[in-house]
Amino acid sequence: MALHIINHPMIQHKLTIMRKKETGTREFRELLKEIGMLMGYEVTRDYPLKNVEIETPMQKMVAHELAGRKTVLVPILRAGLGMVEGMLTLDPTAKVGHIGMYRDEKTHEPVFYYYKMPEGKDRLVIITDPMLATGGSICDAVRRLKSDGYSRIRVMCLVASPEGIKRVQSEHPEVDIYTAAVDEGMNEDCYILPGLGDAGDRIFGTK
Ligand code: PRP
Ligand code: URA
Repeated sequence: MALHIINHPMIQHKLTIMRKKETGTREFRELLKEIGMLMGYEVTRDYPLKNVEIETPMQKMVAHELAGRKTVLVPILRAGLGMVEGMLTLDPTAKVGHIGMYRDEKTHEPVFYYYKMPEGKDRLVIITDPMLATGGSICDAVRRLKSDGYSRIRVMCLVASPEGIKRVQSEHPEVDIYTAAVDEGMNEDCYILPGLGDAGDRIFGTK
């Protein structure tokens, strides 16, 4: 469906710090959490509201509350975990599923290793993964979720390549993509340029 580029100044500023090679693990992780929450505002912007009658200390009024909010956040392990805490700050009642996959270093194809989802196929699924490079991981994750019965799926990433966006849009045209940046492209190892390097390694300090 749609590509949403979230260019809010606070998000862009934080992303710039994350991109810098000198930014360390602790700050990188903290910023990703903050951006996860800020991006969550946009990803949930169209959530329906219903009227409820409440009483303030002053008088009765008709106010709004979320109607039938049922969200599952699905981080793609490992790096997608970094965006979950921020999203849960925004929507503490969301359930969390997990999809485990890593990219083969030579083929750059995703290798699947774990899948666990909560009950409820009618839920809105928000996949989180900071990097959308070739699009292979997201496309496989969406395929897996669809074959399991989920039909309402959104993707929340931080940095995307034009190739990755094109691939997701062509294989899964009904899936909305939310990203803070669309970068120039990829290198021969399918890393995003200019990108921010290996997101998983930078979050978890593994390199
Ligand atoms: C990274 C990233 C995405 C994937 C993106 O994960 O977090 O899941 O690569 O690449 P793609 O769009 O070309 O599929 P990685 O394989 O490095 O695993 P990790 O999160 O465990 O470090
Ligand atoms: N995975 C990453 O972590 N970074 C990239 O640039 C591409 C894939």
